[in-house]
Order: sequence, then structure tokens, then C-alpha cells
Amino acid sequence: MTETKLELLFSREKIDGRVRELAGRISRDYEGRDLLLVGVLKGAFIFMADLIRGMSIPCRVDFVRLASYGAGSRSSGDVRITKDLETPIAGREVLIVEDIVDTGLTLSRLIDLLREQKPSSVRVCAFLDKQQRRRVPLTADYVGFAIPDAFVVGYGLDFNENFRFLPDVCILKDIA
Ligand code: PRP
Repeated sequence: MTETKLELLFSREKIDGRVRELAGRISRDYEGRDLLLVGVLKGAFIFMADLIRGMSIPCRVDFVRLASYGAGSRSSGDVRITKDLETPIAGREVLIVEDIVDTGLTLSRLIDLLREQKPSSVRVCAFLDKQQRRRVPLTADYVGFAIPDAFVVGYGLDFNENFRFLPDVCILKDIA
């Protein structure tokens, strides 16, 4: 049996400080605008909850859930919406909230799908950015932390649906 070890990467205090900074920037940038935050389930749920509570402007929220198919990979590029928006976004200012950008395939496809509905803007706020793994050009407008190519869990991020509840972000070592 393979043992798993958790190594602290970002403490809850460090996360809290960074999320407050992002919330402040977003509040300044979207002041007076009609902002809709679109969270990507499941991983973004904790980040999004903290982000909106740190903001000083009103916003609305909605969620999508996506699934990737093909070749046993979670990032095959064949990305489909399994839970769609419930809010019309035509003419709205949309800010996608993600827990992590890896290859960029998920977000790139989601942005294309949302743009078909003619929002006035679509931008991205990602808690973590694993730039080394990018397979398509994708630059998030707001990034919490750039991280190395390690498997991270906690603060909403999972391994086989475990560890989402951890308040810190940890590197998962020695996975089978
Ligand atoms: C993760 C993450 C992003 C996507 C990033 O979702 O939340 O949506 O993968 O990968 P990419 O940049 O390579 O496309 P996951 O499929 O693990 O689902 P979850 O959010 O439910 O954990």
C-alpha cells in the first residue's frame, strides 16, 4: 500500500491574505458594474465563498460543472458542460472563478462556450496557476498563487474526492 504525505504549501493565513488582496482588486476593477461570478464546480467552491465575502461591491453568483472525456485524462480537451448556468449572461460582466489552471484546456473551452452567449466581458480569476503545464495559451486576469508542477490538495482541491476540506493547500506526495 502506498503511503501519502501532505506537505504544507500555503497556510490558511497566507491564503486568507492573498484572497483578500484579490477581492480588493476585483472590487476596484468592477466598481459600478453589473458583475456575475461564475464558479467552476467542484474545486472553486471554497475560494469563491471567501472571495465574494472579501469584496466591497455587490455581485451575483452562478456555477457550472464541466467534464473532460477521452484517453483517461481529466484534461483531454473534449470538455462538456454537465451543469449549465442558470443566469442569462448576454450583456453581463462575467468573471469565471477557478481553483486551478493546469493545461488551460478546461478554461479555454469554457470561455469559448460563454462567449457564444455574448456577455459584455469574460475574465478569469484563478486561485492557483500551474503555468508549466499549459497546453493552450491561457492567461488568467487574477491569480492567487503561481505554483510548481506538483499535485496539490486542500482549499477545495481534491485527490479522488479527498482532501477538499483542508483549510491549507498541501502538496500530496507519494501517490500511487
Ligand atoms: C480541475 C480544475 C479545473 C481543471 C483544470 O477540475 O478545477 O477545472 O481541472 O485543468 P486544465 O487546466 O488542465 O483543464 P477537476 O476536473 O479536477 O474537477 P473538480 O473541480 O470537480 O475537482
